[in-house]
Amino acid sequence: MDENKQRGQWGSTFGFLMASIGSAIGLGNLWGFPYKMGSTGGFAFLVVYLILVVLVGRLLMMGEFALGRKTGLGVGAYAKLGQKYKVIGWMAAFCPFLILGFYSVLAGMTLRYCVGFLVQIFGMDGFAGQGSGFFGYLLYDTKSMVLFLALAMLVTMVIVMGGVQGGIEKFGKVAMPALGVILIGIVIFVAFQPGAIEGYKFMFKPDFSQFTDPKSFFNVLKVASGQMFFSLSLAMGINITFGSYLAKDKDIQKNALIVPFSDTLFALFAGMMILPACAAFGVDYGAGPGLLFASMQNVFLDGMGGMVGNVIGFLFYFLVFIAAITSSIALLEVLASGVVDKQIAKGKNPNRKMVSILFAVAIFIFALPTAMDALGSGGAAVPAPFELLGLEIGGEGYAMWNDCWLDLYDMITEGVLMPLGALFMSLLLGWKFPNLVKDECEASGHKFRGEAYTKFAFRFLIPIVMAIVLYTQIQAFFL
Ligand code: TRP
Repeated sequence: MDENKQRGQWGSTFGFLMASIGSAIGLGNLWGFPYKMGSTGGFAFLVVYLILVVLVGRLLMMGEFALGRKTGLGVGAYAKLGQKYKVIGWMAAFCPFLILGFYSVLAGMTLRYCVGFLVQIFGMDGFAGQGSGFFGYLLYDTKSMVLFLALAMLVTMVIVMGGVQGGIEKFGKVAMPALGVILIGIVIFVAFQPGAIEGYKFMFKPDFSQFTDPKSFFNVLKVASGQMFFSLSLAMGINITFGSYLAKDKDIQKNALIVPFSDTLFALFAGMMILPACAAFGVDYGAGPGLLFASMQNVFLDGMGGMVGNVIGFLFYFLVFIAAITSSIALLEVLASGVVDKQIAKGKNPNRKMVSILFAVAIFIFALPTAMDALGSGGAAVPAPFELLGLEIGGEGYAMWNDCWLDLYDMITEGVLMPLGALFMSLLLGWKFPNLVKDECEASGHKFRGEAYTKFAFRFLIPIVMAIVLYTQIQAFFL
């Protein structure tokens, strides 16, 4: 029997691309990219990020697509290559759990802003009298943070349980382009604000001062690499799974170019929306994980103002919420389907609903500290990691990984587990199975391009870059 038919396949390359791009574009682009660029010096981050995506991320994605199509599996692909590689699959499968531990909090916050603007449209005050200073207020409003986290998790869970992803994905196909359009609109609006030019200079004006000091260079490399993993949904089995549904005649190499390109474009727009807005409205570029919320509130309430600001603000946060929810669904789905597949393999009767509920509850509990530590602003309901360690903000030992629970979860996934997974994967594809990617790409009848570089990258470049990233991470940890 045709195995592929039974497992299901993408109807078209377009469907495959939409799913891959849909998983890639999310809060990583809109929230993560601008704040990480803001915290690590603008231009330096941008350059390192672009180089990493071109030299490393694109190949990791291609490798994952090929691995999935070759084995016809998701994270289980590694075990199929050899039982001893199983652990790479496990590492990958653990990441969605940790990521959801903060992704859900952020999704909840976007929902809170969305509701706030909706209320304002009807002439009421949606931001507790705080206006553009609302962000600082929300962080300490523990009840709201937990309530909206619960709502975001509930929406995600209900969709995964009900198996109505098909519907929400169709909706996503409209919502994503709409988000792109509104993003460009806001970019143009921000460009006309006095002082915005400084934001572009921060992003695009060549400044190599960060590269002369090894410590700051490695820090930029580490943060940019983490961002690449997160934004391209790499090293967590997602692209392997997508590849497994891709028909043999489709061009893997081309698709592994289109997805990173689209993702980077979205991230760039988000950067060009937020950083010039910071410059125009006096928000600190390095404000950290809250940058998106803090800066955009000024744009909608002070820059645009009135009804226009309320309507655009509502639309913006509504679309960002949809983007966040489609990603959350994929993340919870990876976890739930992993367990369901295991139960089936063991001959048990899988209980999909129960599994989804258990994961959702576990993630909700796990996400509570990220919702309650005021993103490390200090003195919140739950102490941030640096407070538990007895450190002072900005003092000795205070670092990005211990400044709040969100950054800690982030560091464990995109700072450690993902680079480690990528290190193992590229060693496997470079040395153990050196022809797997090329053969799989050529199975479609397309000639493989850049063979020499691909070999070099999987054998040497990627493992070395990953080793440096891991080393820098460990060093930052034991500061
Ligand atoms: N790439 C997504 C973003 O930028 C986040 C993400 C990471 C993701 N891994 C994923 C989304 C897996 C869906 C599935 O926001």
